[in-house]
Amino acid sequence: MKIAVLRETAPGEKRVAATPETVKKLAALGAEIAIEAGAGASASVSDGDYAAAGAAVGDRATALAGAEIVLAVQGPDPDSLPGVRQGAWLVAALNPFGERARVDRYAALGIEALAMELMPRITRAQSMDILSSQSNLSGYKAVLDAAAEYGRAFPMMMTAAGTVSAARLFVMGVGVAGLQAIATARRLGAQVSATDVRSATKEQILSLGAKPIFVENVQGIEGEGSGGYATEMSDEYKAAQAELVSAHIAKQDIVITTALIPGRPAPRLIADAQVASMKPGSVIVDLAVEQGGNVEGAVAGEVVERHGVKIVGHRNVPSRLAADASALFSRNLFNFLSAFWDKEAGRPLLDAEIGDAIRLTQGGRVVHPRLLEG
Ligand code: NAI
Repeated sequence: MKIAVLRETAPGEKRVAATPETVKKLAALGAEIAIEAGAGASASVSDGDYAAAGAAVGDRATALAGAEIVLAVQGPDPDSLPGVRQGAWLVAALNPFGERARVDRYAALGIEALAMELMPRITRAQSMDILSSQSNLSGYKAVLDAAAEYGRAFPMMMTAAGTVSAARLFVMGVGVAGLQAIATARRLGAQVSATDVRSATKEQILSLGAKPIFVENVQGIEGEGSGGYATEMSDEYKAAQAELVSAHIAKQDIVITTALIPGRPAPRLIADAQVASMKPGSVIVDLAVEQGGNVEGAVAGEVVERHGVKIVGHRNVPSRLAADASALFSRNLFNFLSAFWDKEAGRPLLDAEIGDAIRLTQGGRVVHPRLLEG
């Protein structure tokens, strides 16, 4: 069983899908690992580190030759997989709805494309969940990015020259990223509040020492849908949320938005008028900017200024912490492969619950039901 690890080619992508640690662990399962030269360079892993861990390092064609599993962070261009073996697994974040045409081309190559971001949210798959591991780091980095753009301090400081007041920071969307943003902002000494459409998050916000800001007394206030994800809210709820949030945002120094609804554009949470209501020098970080944005005026890949407020829209935030993001991503992939490893077959064999959830292509065809729908 040969496993190939690709060097990422997407602009700004610094992560890598295996580390020396996971190379050793995969080898212990009986696999032979081939790394494309330079794969770890942007994540502070040298070719020599991989070689020392027991991997063969070579060009892409050599790495791919005979590989039965191909690991990557982002889905590679199907034209860039010279000689990839029929039936080989491609295990990566494949963005199947955004890159639909690519999925057809993976099918045409005869490979089995497995989209790791479609991993079901069940207890046994938690350690394989790339969305969680990467969102956690994004939530942390969003707070540091906000601090870097903010011309004031986060904690209250009493000095001989006078008192510096604590920054007020509001987190919108308290999933994995939002919880980490709250924890990080609290550690930096900010006064933190947070909101979500899922009422279960209220307790979580309180337990992190932050203040929950929630819509009450409106029909249909429960926003939890299947798999613990949020659902689209009613118009009545949205109006009540906008009113509550407007009053709150005007008093904030920093806002971090993380709100996503699976399979839909990100909900719009902050309109231009609300940006204008903030004090000059305030900062908004929109972590949903690549999914359409929670904030009006946010631009993917840019820090823009509107009404004296900086709106931060970095793309691919986990890649900004490439070494840790790679370490966690690689462990997610290892946990996935090892959980299904069949000793007799000498390779992983998927069960239906997880296999059907993540498998996009098989036997030359697109097989994922959600891709066949429309
Ligand atoms: P996400 O990235 O899909 O969305 C981020 C947050 O935005 C969510 O908390 C969502 O409720 C919130 N949101 C959506 N629309 C909103 C709106 N209009 N206003 C305010 N907030 C809004 O969510 P994420 O981080 O993936 O987590 C969702 C849930 O899944 C959490 O409860 C998490 O604990 C759970 N989870 C379970 C796992 C497992 O069991 N394997 C693994 C990871 C997460």
